[in-house]
Parts: sequence; structure tokens; C-alpha cells
Amino acid sequence: MTQDELKTLVGQAALAYVTPGEIVGVGTGSTVNKFIDALATMKDQIPGAVSSSEASTARLKALGIPVLEAADVAELSVYIDGADEIDAQGNMVKGGGAALTREKIVAAQSKRFVCIADESKMVKALGAFPLPVEVIPMAAARIARQFVAMGAQAKLRLKDGAPLVTDNGQQILDVTGLQIADPLAFESEVNQWPGVVTVGVFAHQRAHVCLLGTPSGVKTLTF
Ligand code: A5P
Repeated sequence: MTQDELKTLVGQAALAYVTPGEIVGVGTGSTVNKFIDALATMKDQIPGAVSSSEASTARLKALGIPVLEAADVAELSVYIDGADEIDAQGNMVKGGGAALTREKIVAAQSKRFVCIADESKMVKALGAFPLPVEVIPMAAARIARQFVAMGAQAKLRLKDGAPLVTDNGQQILDVTGLQIADPLAFESEVNQWPGVVTVGVFAHQRAHVCLLGTPSGVKTLTF
């Protein structure tokens, strides 16, 4: 089975976590796109979705799924999103698609985080995937130096030769060379650095369930 087929498999499997009559939180990325496509088959059974990015909003709307503002919804029962890495405790690295801040906001607003991922995303320890950190532009260089002081390297993410601008008007640093032994402590520490908007470690908002796509089918992991 190809990686794309595994993504389709878990995207469809996630429908089992959508409750008719309830608003669903929707993440961002190529795996979530498969979920959005599957969700379209249930669009008459749900009031709509809260989206974590402009890209997901556009796809949801194109398929006729109403998009509601996060600020107008008190709590969501479920948030469905992909990950760049997930460990055996449900801690994740996210933000490969630059949507980490809104993803963390919608995840924090949800009772249950269901991660959908192909098996290549499962890791023993977080840190091999370059860690995305959304930053206020005026602080980017100083934050990059703070990572260097930790023994890591930080690169400003570019798009078409210019710094990528997120949905929130900010920039992304991609950090390599990290060893994230304690994801909760790491997330708490980096979150406090002035100018950091969001660090792409999701330990406070870790997954409760992971639907992992494998060649022998979908494995359900609970944390
Ligand atoms: C988006 O910013 C990310 O957090 C995605 O959820 C993550 O990069 C996984 O994306 P794919 O499903 O495209 O691998």
C-alpha cells in the first residue's frame, strides 16, 4: 500500500469518531485532506466544522461543509488532525504545514484529539523531524540564537524565496538537532521565550487516540 493509500485509509477511519449532530474540529495537511473528503459524505448529519487553517477552510467549503468560527463554539467533542511525528505516549510534533498555532487552539478547545497518521509518523522519541516554531518576525533571529545555544540549528522557513507568512501573519523557524527527551517540559520552556507564538511540540495537547495506517490495516492506539 502506498503512503497516500494509508492516508486515505485513516482519513476514512476517522469518520467513526464524528458524532452526528455535533460540530467537528478539523486539522490541516495531506492526511486531513483525506478526512475532509470522507467527511463530505456526512455533511448532512453535522452542523459544520471548526477549521485550523485557511487551506482546510477552503477545502471544507468547496465540499459544502459549513465552517464555524472557533470563537463562536464553546467546546468540541473531537478534533481530528495529522502529525509529523507521534510517540508512544501520544506526544506529537506538528506544523509541517505551518498551521500549528490554530491547530493547537482548536485542539485545546476539544475534549478528544484523534490523530490520523501513516505508520511512518510513529517514532520512539520526538526530534528527527525539523521542529516548527511560529515566531513574531522581530524576534526570529534571537530565538534562532537561543536554539543554537541549546546545540540545535534553526532555519527560517521560506516560500518562493521569501520568508513564509503564516495564516496569522507570522514566520516559522524549523529547528533541527534537538533531542526532546521530555516533551511536556520542552514545550513549556520554549513557549515562554519572548516572541514565540507556538512551538510545534504537542504534549499539553497530545493525542488521546491515534489511528495509524499500516499495510495490514488501521491500528487504533489509545493514550
Ligand atoms: C500542519 O501544520 C501539520 O501540523 C500537519 O498536521 C502535519 O504536518 C501532518 O501533515 P501531513 O498529513 O500532510 O503529513
